[in-house]
Amino acid sequence: MDKSSARTLRISTLALAMALLGCSSREPAVPAASTKISWGNTPEGQPVELYTLTNAKGSEARIMTYGGVVVSLKVPDRSGALGDVVAGFDNLEGYLTPPPYFGAIIGRYGNRIGGGRFSLRGKEYMLAKNNGANHLHGGMRGFDKRVWSAKPLSPQSLELSYLSKDGEEAYPGNLSATVTYTLTDAHELRIEYSATTDKETVVNLTNHSYFNLAGEGDILGHQVMIQADRFTPVDKGLIPTGVLKSVAGTPFDFRMAKTIGERIEQKDEQLIFGQGYDHNWVLNRTGSGLETAAKVTDPKSGRVMEVLTTEPGLQFYTGNFLDGTLQGKGRVYTRRSAFCMETQHFPDSPNKPAFPPTVLKPGDTYRTTTVYRFSTI
Ligand code: GLA
Repeated sequence: MDKSSARTLRISTLALAMALLGCSSREPAVPAASTKISWGNTPEGQPVELYTLTNAKGSEARIMTYGGVVVSLKVPDRSGALGDVVAGFDNLEGYLTPPPYFGAIIGRYGNRIGGGRFSLRGKEYMLAKNNGANHLHGGMRGFDKRVWSAKPLSPQSLELSYLSKDGEEAYPGNLSATVTYTLTDAHELRIEYSATTDKETVVNLTNHSYFNLAGEGDILGHQVMIQADRFTPVDKGLIPTGVLKSVAGTPFDFRMAKTIGERIEQKDEQLIFGQGYDHNWVLNRTGSGLETAAKVTDPKSGRVMEVLTTEPGLQFYTGNFLDGTLQGKGRVYTRRSAFCMETQHFPDSPNKPAFPPTVLKPGDTYRTTTVYRFSTI
């Protein structure tokens, strides 16, 4: 064989090998399966794993089995540079101290239940009062502080499941919960929740990611649109009064995009109670499918986040209780350095018969979906 045919053979062999391996020189290599590393143990000695989901465009989500926490979420800015848009810590230890619930799955009941009690079929259930006189985010040890079982479905999708035993945190019924995270090629973090029970119970699952689309600084310059004509005003303890109030003429009107900072310091009773925004908006819905709930734009990085959900409510919380004592990923989590958009049923629904119901019966399946979709302007 002469030199040039030997070279041609070498090149075609290489091309064949690359084709067989499914890579091309131009496209970023996509791992064959979501990668997994061990991330230490809980104080009780339960091992915790950290999974990395990567999409074909290089975006990346890291999710750990403790709390089903979204540890990091890297998406492009307008120049294509990847940046981490969620608050979090560098190691498991950071997540084991008392919670701001960074990135976690919240359950069995997201947000507050007034007086830490509710009745179901004539029986009263007394829950932990872990937020003043009220019950918050599932109690002393909610779903955010449990180790979930993980099953990777693909390089871009991870299924987590957790069995919450009858009587755990005083809730009735063995509740079998599944949460699937998928990072799509359209830069969407899709979260699908499902649950079944063997005894009538209440369920309200959400994710408590704290976003900062710039990945640094405060979030007061982020522009927010919320698709809601009404919100649920609260009392001093942040329990809804039961009224669905029009947002018109209030600092809660985000039907046209406004910056978070524009009205947050107004002398409005509701803003004073929440020390900023920490309220549930009643989403304008046309059906039961996935509909746009909100859109947030950071003019600096150009990043845009749209929130789509099947849920009736959205808790928009502006990190009012962050006070600079927590640090992680090279950032100090100062007041209003991140915001949450927790899709949900309304707070205190078990005590508010007029709110959309949160009761789950044996034989029925609880199913909700929320999508955080990232793009740029
Ligand atoms: C939710 C609540 C807030 C606060 C945070 C966690 O958003 O509504 O009041 O408890 O969780 O700090």
